[in-house]
Order: sequence, then structure tokens, then C-alpha cells
Amino acid sequence: MDIAPGDLVLEIGSGRGVAVSLVAERLTTGKIFAIDRSATMARITSEHNERHIRAGRVEVRCTGFESAEFPADHLTKIFAVNVNLFWLDAATPQIDRMRSILKPGGELFVFGERPRSASTMANLAATERVLQAHGFDTVRRIVPHGRERLLTCVIGTVAH
Ligand SMILES: C[S@@+](CC[C@H](N)C(=O)[O-])C[C@H]1O[C@@H](n2cnc3c(N)ncnc32)[C@H](O)[C@@H]1O
Repeated sequence: MDIAPGDLVLEIGSGRGVAVSLVAERLTTGKIFAIDRSATMARITSEHNERHIRAGRVEVRCTGFESAEFPADHLTKIFAVNVNLFWLDAATPQIDRMRSILKPGGELFVFGERPRSASTMANLAATERVLQAHGFDTVRRIVPHGRERLLTCVIGTVAH
């Protein structure tokens, strides 16, 4: 994600908070907001990132993205790993909200760890279609990830 020291980042569905730590290590003036709708996962994210929270680089909230509040044009990067939010029709209003809280030029990264299969490719195409329909320009990245698995990412850039 090419994290810059001043980035303002949101992770949706932070789980155990492993990616939050990796991002926080690269921040100086920036900050990462980590949200998870599971109280257990939000707690584990907080425990895992205690040092960064004390330094003001991480803020953890227990909330679904649907009810998370961020000002417009605020964030430079939003990402999610293995979160089932980006290709379901019911979720598409949330993609508009993601675009509106990103600054112009901001980026949305939708990561997935998936089997090497036709359904994975169909899922990637569906994710790109949804992002494009909501005003993002998209590219995709695919790298091998263990035996028979892929790490996929659709990157959407806000074309304001
Ligand atoms: C499969 S886990 C992935 C966790 C972590 N990103 C990882 O890759 O290890 C999905 C996580 O996303 C959270 N989640 C799912 N939908 C969400 C939403 N709409 N808003 C916030 N969190 C959500 C779940 O509670 C869960 O912790």
C-alpha cells in the first residue's frame, strides 16, 4: 500500500490487528483507524497494538463500517483483508461512503486470500465492477500465496 508517514488510514474488519501493526510501524504524523464489528476482535486488535495506541498512531473502534462516522475527504487510504463487503449488492451504498470519506486521489485496497479458482477470478471481476460503478478507477494485483492459493487485491483510486 506504500504507506507514507503522514497517511490517514482506515482498516475495515481488523480481526486480530496484525495488519494494523504493520501499517502503524510506518506512520509518524499519520494515524490508522481500525474498526471491527466484533467486540472480541476489536479487543484483540487493541491488545495487539497497545504501544501504538499509546503513541497516538492507532485508534480502535468496535463498530460496523455501516455506522462508523468519519468526516468527508478525510482519509488517504482504506483497506480490508478477507472482508465480505465489496461485492454484495446490499453493501454497495457503503462503497459510496468509502469514496466520500477518502481525500481526492485516495485509494481503497480490497485484499483477499483465496483458492486458485474460477470463482476467485469471478469475485475479483465483481469487485472491480462494483468499485467502478461507484466512481473508482481500478487495477488488480494477484500474487501466489502458498500452495494453490492467491493473494488478490483490487485497488480503487478516487477519480473526484
Ligand atoms: C474473515 S475476518 C478477517 C480479519 C482480518 N482482516 C484478517 O484478514 O485476518 C473478517 C472480519 O471483518 C469483520 N467485519 C465483517 N464485516 C464488517 C463490517 N461491515 N464492518 C466492520 N467489521 C466487519 C468481522 O467481524 C471479522 O473480524
